Amino acid sequence: MSTIEATGVSFALTDEQKALRELARAFAEKEIRPKEREYDEQMRHPADVIAKAHELGLMNLHVPEEYGGPGLSVFDGMLVGEELYWGCSGIGTSISANGLGSGPVIGFGSDEQKRKWLSPLVEEPILASFGLSEPGAGSDVASLKTTAVREGDEYVLNGSKTFITNAGYAAWATIFAKTDPRGGAKGMSCFVVPMDTPGVTIESHLDKMGQRSTDTSAFALQDVRVPADNLIGAEGDGFKIAMATLDATRPGTAIGAVGVAQAAFEHAKAYAVERVTFDVPIAMHQGVNFMIADMATEIEASRLLCWQAAWMLDEGYGRKATLYSSFAKRFAADTAMKVTTDAVQVFGGYGYIKEYPVEKLMRDAKLFQIYEGTSQIQRLVIAKELFLPKG
Ligand code: CAA
Repeated sequence: MSTIEATGVSFALTDEQKALRELARAFAEKEIRPKEREYDEQMRHPADVIAKAHELGLMNLHVPEEYGGPGLSVFDGMLVGEELYWGCSGIGTSISANGLGSGPVIGFGSDEQKRKWLSPLVEEPILASFGLSEPGAGSDVASLKTTAVREGDEYVLNGSKTFITNAGYAAWATIFAKTDPRGGAKGMSCFVVPMDTPGVTIESHLDKMGQRSTDTSAFALQDVRVPADNLIGAEGDGFKIAMATLDATRPGTAIGAVGVAQAAFEHAKAYAVERVTFDVPIAMHQGVNFMIADMATEIEASRLLCWQAAWMLDEGYGRKATLYSSFAKRFAADTAMKVTTDAVQVFGGYGYIKEYPVEKLMRDAKLFQIYEGTSQIQRLVIAKELFLPKG
């Protein structure tokens, strides 16, 4: 039996929510789709599309109104996110990643920190990154090696970060570092680090298989000095800040996977009607139409899991939402991989050719099973929450 009490749940969107979704779909059709292939080929950072999304209010959705943002719910974010990623998940990730980068400040910053770091995000199209992963610490966050040592009114950071979305173009990043290197998860703290601080060096823009128009960078921190005021929360809070931020953002990534799967499904369904073999459209063959039936079913199930996790976060379920965020992320990511792989299969030989759209979608889908916690980490979280629930 589900652990949530589904009182007040409705699938009927308000007029405002429908308008928001239509705005995002129109933006994806007009501004994202025409550029997706070229930007993917050129591994191009979509600064122009980001600027337009910012102008239309499709970025920084969860920055509270008192700091100039739209203060939208996690659920509203589902409606925007699915459409942007339907347009192109590389560009969609570039637009949405500020949510993850600024998540620790939104969730745990003081009023002064929120004013200092969040308001500029709303005023201009600048980017914020989330500096958690390291060359030797991806899934095992507690083992990260970057250090932060207090010296007077400053902290001095040393270490390296990798696989960081938008880092090559970000104005600032939330950086996780050990203030007590022997303290494991409890020795970790979170800092806002402006990316132009002396000692921050972008080492490479990683050349990825998919979502190639999103910048994913590696950078070094060498004797990077930040004011002690840039500490988010208290010393030692870093691990819990990172986990709670990921709980809140994983449904947003999961709905991106739904957008990619939806795009692949639409292409496969249209092609199945148009393509004729053995004198009938291939949609008439059960081998094909069963694949398309499964795509539609699993996409809908993924969407509902995302909506449920978002609803729980909005309703203040707190730690209980951890389980549902991981349900959504695990299922939607794996569904996107399966749906896009099957879409290539429906297209046959053409599906494997770059000229057709499903080849890119299959490459793009793979990343959902890796970033913001692999599908295996989601299962680990789910198992922990089932056997040792903390909520
Ligand atoms: N909320 C609050 N607290 C939490 C929590 C949560 N969701 N999850 C765990 N905690 C607390 C635990 O209660 C525990 O606290 P106590 O000791 O007080 O009880 C403490 O944190 C340690 O928890 P665990 O023992 O469960 O920690 P662990 O070391 O076993 O690791 C993990 C847990 C789930 C594997 C975690 O390391 C994890 O999520 N790994 C995946 C990291 C990840 O998603 N990385 C993606 C990076 S971001 C990205 O990809 C975006 C980009 O820019 C590319």
